[in-house]
Amino acid sequence: MVSYKDLGLVNTREMFAKAVAGGYAIPAFNFNTMEQMQAIVQAAVETKSPVIMQVSKGARAYANGTILRYMAQGAVEYAKELGCANPQIVLHLDHGDSFEICKECIDNGFSSVMIDGSSLPYEENIALTKKVVEYAHAHDVTVEAELGVLAGVEDEVASEVSHYTKPEEVEDFSKRTGCDSLAISIGTSHGAYKFTPDQCTRDPKTGKLVPPPLAFDILHEIEQRIPGFPIVLHGSSSVPQDEVDTINQYGGKLPDAVGIPEEQLREASKSAVCKINIDSDSRLAMTAAIRKHFAENPGHFDPRQYLKPARENMKKMYIHKIVNVLGSDNKL
Ligand code: G3H
Ligand code: 13P
Ligand code: ZN
Repeated sequence: MVSYKDLGLVNTREMFAKAVAGGYAIPAFNFNTMEQMQAIVQAAVETKSPVIMQVSKGARAYANGTILRYMAQGAVEYAKELGCANPQIVLHLDHGDSFEICKECIDNGFSSVMIDGSSLPYEENIALTKKVVEYAHAHDVTVEAELGVLAGVEDEVASEVSHYTKPEEVEDFSKRTGCDSLAISIGTSHGAYKFTPDQCTRDPKTGKLVPPPLAFDILHEIEQRIPGFPIVLHGSSSVPQDEVDTINQYGGKLPDAVGIPEEQLREASKSAVCKINIDSDSRLAMTAAIRKHFAENPGHFDPRQYLKPARENMKKMYIHKIVNVLGSDNKL
C-alpha cells in the first residue's frame, strides 16, 4: 500500500472548495510521457496554479501505472526544485471503469479517482459509485462520478451520441453515492472532432466551423439543485486552429477538427465547474511542433531535438489555459 500523502500529493477536496468559491477551475491535464509531465509542472509552477495530473486506462497501458505514479511523485519534487514551496498536485485516475481499477490506483498512490458508471443504468451507476466512494474515503481519496453520457470514446466507455445529464437526478445521485464531484454532459465530447460539420455553422468570413453552444441552461439548473457542489467538464479541449493548421501544413491530415470555444470554457470556469479536462489540445500541440521541426530539420534524428520544441509548445498551451481560460493562476 502506497499512500499519496507520502508522495507529497493532495486530494481534490480543499482545491475544489476554493475553486468553486473563487469562480475558477482547476486544470486536469492527461499525461502519458515525461515531456508532458515536465511541461505541466513547469506551467503550474510558473503560474502558481494547482493542477490535476490525470491518467487514463490507455495511459496506464502505454506507460505503465507504476512508472506514472513515480512520475507524479517526481512532479512534486520537480515543482519544489523549480521554486514552488507548496505544490498542489493531484494524481487522478481518469475514467476508471471498475471498482478493481479504482482500488488498485488508491492502493498505489493516487489521490483521486474517477469511477465512470455513466453508461450503466442509473441504479447500477449509484451502486458502483457508492462502493468506490466507501473504499476511497477510508483512504482519504476523493471520487469523481459521472451522470449523463458524452459522445466519443471514454476508454472502454464509448457512445455515438451524447445524452445530457438530467438535472432532476443530480441531487439524489450525489447524496446517495457520497461522491466528491460530478462530471456532467452538457455538449462537450472527447477528441479533436467534437462535432460533425453538419452540427456546426460556418463563419462567413473565415469559412471555419462554428460549433453549437454548450447547454448552459442545464449547467445552471444543476447548480441550483446542488449549490456549491463541484462540477467537472470532460472533453474540454478547444482544438486550437493554429495547431491544426500547422499539422495540416506539414503533412498532417486533420480536416474539420473542431473543439469547444474558449469563451464558453471561460464562462463555465466561473460557475460551479471546478475541474476542466484537457488532453487533445496537448496532443495537438506536441504533434504540431514535431511535424514542423521534422519538416524544417530533415537531418535531425536525436529525439531531444524534436521533443524539446514539443515540450515548449505544450507548456505554452498549458500556461494559456491556466491564465486565460480557467483562471487558476496565483492560487497557491
Ligand atoms: O478520456 C479520454 C482521454 O483523452 C484519454 O484518452 O484513453 O486515449 O488515453 P486515452
Ligand atoms: P479532450 O479530448 O477534449 O481533451 O478531453 C479529455 C478528457 O475529457 C479526458 O478525460
Ligand atoms: Zn474524459
